[in-house]
Amino acid sequence: MTDTVDTTAADRALKGRHRAMWGLGDYPAVARDVIPELGRVLVAAAGVRRGERVLDVAAGSGNAAVPAALTGADVVASDLTPELFDAGRAFAAREGVPVTWEEGDAEALPYGDASFDVVLSCVGVMFAPHHQQAADELVRVCRPGGRIGLLSWTPQGFVGEMFRTMKPYAPTPPPGAQPPPLWGDEQHVRGLLGDRVTDVVARRQTVTSPEYASPEAWRDWWKTVYGPTIAIYRGIADDPARTAALDHDLAALAARYDRGTGSTVMDWEYLLLTARRA
Ligand SMILES: C[S@@+](CC[C@H](N)C(=O)[O-])C[C@H]1O[C@@H](n2cnc3c(N)ncnc32)[C@H](O)[C@@H]1O
Repeated sequence: MTDTVDTTAADRALKGRHRAMWGLGDYPAVARDVIPELGRVLVAAAGVRRGERVLDVAAGSGNAAVPAALTGADVVASDLTPELFDAGRAFAAREGVPVTWEEGDAEALPYGDASFDVVLSCVGVMFAPHHQQAADELVRVCRPGGRIGLLSWTPQGFVGEMFRTMKPYAPTPPPGAQPPPLWGDEQHVRGLLGDRVTDVVARRQTVTSPEYASPEAWRDWWKTVYGPTIAIYRGIADDPARTAALDHDLAALAARYDRGTGSTVMDWEYLLLTARRA
């Protein structure tokens, strides 16, 4: 009993830290300026249609929820960090579509079994720390015959490498927390979903970044907008040598991916996976 209570309290504290982290900087600017096409790609891959009931898990500012609503679907955008919803509401209003915004943990979704025709997550559920628990929830709330669509950064792509680059500078993750980019590994996701799904289709694709003046310019902007990166820099703020080393490592990573001529342009790889609920 004590263990359960402790685990629950520890999990609440962890989720509180995650919520605070995603509220740092300006994540909606990342969704708007760097990866707006990913929500549309996911919605198209999942074949979202008018009248369907759709859940976007870890929806952030609605990168997938708003394009889903544009099809005429009835969309709920759920996220741990409701601080992102104002930007989402503004996005939905600009596009002229209704979206319902609800706070929720992907590992304990506040919905009944089989509530949705389609369950989506765009570089979202991958950040919930307990992968099996989150996958079980995606499956549970999707009706039999419904679809699950997931878009996740791959371990070997730019964002996976970025998390590996930042890891030595970050606090040790709590026991049981799994690395987000594992959701970009097809076999890992197939294992999580198991025989509760059929018709799995997975492919690796890339999204091209906007142009930045240089790798350093990307890094300096990223340090102001992306919560996980901001949190790591804050943790080493009293150590100028480590801060300089992380500055160096992130710019070097961007330089390695830079395929621009005269400006920095990068291709970031993701796994796009769709499946049918058995
Ligand atoms: C990279 S953002 C993606 C947001 C959006 N899907 C997009 O494509 O722009 C990751 C999102 O995961 C959310 N998140 C992290 N952990 C979560 C959890 N345990 N449950 C629900 N959402 C979570 C964060 O609040 C954040 O909005």
